[in-house]
Amino acid sequence: MTYQISSLKDYNETLAESIQNPIRFWESQAESFTWHSKWDTVLEWEFDTPSISWFKGGKLNITENCLDRHIEKRGDKVAILWEPNDPSEEVVKYTYKQLLDEVCKTANALKEQGIVKGDRVVFYMPMVPALAIGVLACARIGAIHSVVFAGFSAQALADRVDDAQAKMIICSDYNNRGNKKIPVKAIVDEAMDKSCNSIEKVVVLKNSDEDINWSDDTDVWWHAIVEEQSTECAAELMDAEDVLFILYTSGSTGKPKGVVHTCGGYMVYTCFSFKNAFQYKGDDVYWCTADIGWITGHSYIVYGPLLAGATTVMFEGVPTFPDAGRFWEICEKHRVNQFYTAPTAIRALMAKGEEWPAKYDLSSLKMLGSVGEPINAEAWHWYDKHIGKGNCPIIDTWWQTETGGIMITPLPGITDTKPTYASYPMPGVQLELRDAEGNVLEQNGVEGLLCIKFPWPSMLRTTWGDHARCKKTYFSTFEGVYFTGDGARRDEEGRIRVIGRVDDVLNVSGHRMGTAELENAINEHPNVIESAVVGYPHDIKGQGIYAYVITDGTVDRDEFVKSLRTVVVREIGPIAKPDKIQIAGGLPKTRSGKIMRRILRKIASDETDSLGDISTLLNPDVVDALIAGKV
Ligand code: PRX
Repeated sequence: MTYQISSLKDYNETLAESIQNPIRFWESQAESFTWHSKWDTVLEWEFDTPSISWFKGGKLNITENCLDRHIEKRGDKVAILWEPNDPSEEVVKYTYKQLLDEVCKTANALKEQGIVKGDRVVFYMPMVPALAIGVLACARIGAIHSVVFAGFSAQALADRVDDAQAKMIICSDYNNRGNKKIPVKAIVDEAMDKSCNSIEKVVVLKNSDEDINWSDDTDVWWHAIVEEQSTECAAELMDAEDVLFILYTSGSTGKPKGVVHTCGGYMVYTCFSFKNAFQYKGDDVYWCTADIGWITGHSYIVYGPLLAGATTVMFEGVPTFPDAGRFWEICEKHRVNQFYTAPTAIRALMAKGEEWPAKYDLSSLKMLGSVGEPINAEAWHWYDKHIGKGNCPIIDTWWQTETGGIMITPLPGITDTKPTYASYPMPGVQLELRDAEGNVLEQNGVEGLLCIKFPWPSMLRTTWGDHARCKKTYFSTFEGVYFTGDGARRDEEGRIRVIGRVDDVLNVSGHRMGTAELENAINEHPNVIESAVVGYPHDIKGQGIYAYVITDGTVDRDEFVKSLRTVVVREIGPIAKPDKIQIAGGLPKTRSGKIMRRILRKIASDETDSLGDISTLLNPDVVDALIAGKV
């Protein structure tokens, strides 16, 4: 079994061992899994190319480790416990045995539809068990899954399908989210009309009674291809370094990039980090509220929990439907022991009042988790007091799509917690803070750029189809280390607090968005000449989107703002809708023509008394006009 740390002494010793002898440490973790043949080397790496391989030559299939491996001991244990959007509908449970059967049937169906090892399959689905089953079915046959969050637009979906050159899209007819019914298949049709030339088949899960448009050439119903399949499907033998999945995420430049994760290292690390960060034990019921469209859902709804043989709750709906007590009602109903959510959800529910959690029995909770963005002290204390009742350690977990698993976190009941601090590295994680010149900051009580100096098993291997971009983004800022893009503070006792991005990436309600990507979308509006987007502090979302836009001068403000939001929703999706739009006469630029975002950020954040030196601007006079026109 994967090692579970049980005391502070144990944590300190495990951390020390993992740093002194990482090869031996990770090899011993890997040995607890089912492999068809052992690896030739535990780790080969250099960060310059970068070239990283863990457990190279080892043969495995991650689904055998998520499913088959558990059948003997816990075949009848609930693996996935699904809570529907509408509380009056029925809860669905899959035991490990049932889940294995469904995954095999679906895997056989995918094979019959022509999917083979290495093919890319894009998912655009609601949070229903079929999504987890489909993802695992891909892994069963060695197909590479790429889940696209179902809130993205047809254009964003098409961009991802084209980049991955996917052969198949798997979607539903409709999605249920709160009191909304989202016409998912129609969005897929729109994406298919735009491009998606690599797509041969669209598999549609029936999730409503509504009619949809149908194309006999491409479309097949999920039930029609899956129902009659055999429950036996031999797992494809994968090399540890074969690609498991691609997940698109935003960066500071260009279009979103496909972060690539591979089979062996991702398996070992997500299982290890799940068991330790959540201290999952026995028949605990664990619930992560994320969407499988993001990395948190991949690692800590599907893979980590199933690898560890846990019961993982999957929720279709939203925190405020039918009312603001929904999360707490689910915790009570399923006697949830570990609860993992995002600060933005905590802040939104905090704003609805403490009377909502007070209605429910939350005594089953043992620990609480937070992920995706910095958690502010007020939200931390509210979570602690009104949800944890002062008895549940809060783990503020810092990590990224690229890291694959949790990198910095307290271990509940083992290490201490401090509001707003992600605190301590997981074993195997070698952190470093650097100053802007690249000097390593050794001392405590400092702030710097967060880097990681040694590989960990679940780190990204490349960005799909563009290795140079991977090198440039993560391995070129400072030689020989992985640069996270985040700034962090180390307190006097060595705990880490991650402050936020230091690049042009925003974190809006825990969703990562690049300013370049947002500006490209805004510039699609026919009346826009130029734009610049920055983040500003937002009470619920953490960061809001503030867009400065130069127009061709012919617009009616209200009409324009409305139509601009529509364009952004069309290009990216509702999550990217600008909160504030200022029509500007000009943007502050350096003499070389670069937009000075620092100044725009200060104006958007009402920090105009600390604008700094503006004399180097090409056009210092625009600053006063921008301040005067702030919305
Ligand atoms: O800025 C950090 C922030 O979210 C970024 C990663 O976003 P994404 O790849 O979408 O993954 C989110 C879920 C793992 C990071 O670079 N971030 C994530 N967790 C925290 C955080 N910032 C502060 N504290 C955290 N706990």
